[in-house]
Amino acid sequence: MPVDQKPKITPEFIRAAKSRGERVAALTAYDYPTARLLDEAGVPLILVGDSVGMVVLGYPDTTQVTLAEMRHHVAAVARAKTKALVVGDLPYHTYQTAPNAVANAHILTEAGAEAIKLEGGVAVVPEIRALREAGIAVMGHIGMLPQHLKEEGGYKIKGRSEEQKVQVMADALAVEEAGAFAVVLELVEPELAREITAKLSIPTIGIGSGAHCFGNILVTHDLIGAFPWFRPKFAVATVDVASAIRGAAEGYVRQVKEGGG
Ligand code: KIV
Repeated sequence: MPVDQKPKITPEFIRAAKSRGERVAALTAYDYPTARLLDEAGVPLILVGDSVGMVVLGYPDTTQVTLAEMRHHVAAVARAKTKALVVGDLPYHTYQTAPNAVANAHILTEAGAEAIKLEGGVAVVPEIRALREAGIAVMGHIGMLPQHLKEEGGYKIKGRSEEQKVQVMADALAVEEAGAFAVVLELVEPELAREITAKLSIPTIGIGSGAHCFGNILVTHDLIGAFPWFRPKFAVATVDVASAIRGAAEGYVRQVKEGGG
């Protein structure tokens, strides 16, 4: 079906994906053309992730991304007027209290985000509840939390020890109970991800968490090979955009040097 004839995807539609038995394939976008292309390809959920900091803005991790930067990229994606649900990431240190979370989430929803993602489980339940009370749809994010990279000690699988297993399961249940419509499971030990997926009624959307989550999300730059200097082990690039750009630029340089237009 052409994209303009498709119904708009809502958080409720994603929440009900499990009951429809329809797995969720989510990707990130930070700009207008990428959002349009993903929408035309039938991607139902586009995340304007704070991964923008690493793959677009050149920061070493996501902790330096500001709310102003997120607003700028959310607005660019929103201009694509996608059928896909547009989820905006609340960046680091913008949701330390419930009122803070609501005020900052409103900045992203006013820019065009149709739902908000924030990292954390039990620890952010008051913020998720406050967002829901303010009428803002929330996607959770548990497991390895990139905004807490220092405390996490690197990008490491979560849920190998008994203590972590209990914590990640408690986080999953807390996020669902607080009202999230879906939850990202990042680098969660695959058997634990399977157990969480079986227990929750909302879809689990895995990244580096094995094959048993209900959906999957990737940073689009990893999928298309557009950030060749670092790609996580679990992400397989299916095209090589970096080589295409380099090749086109090399050809152009040659052509101009030789006196072509
Ligand atoms: O910022 C992001 O892109 C994310 C995904 C990797 C889940 O949080």
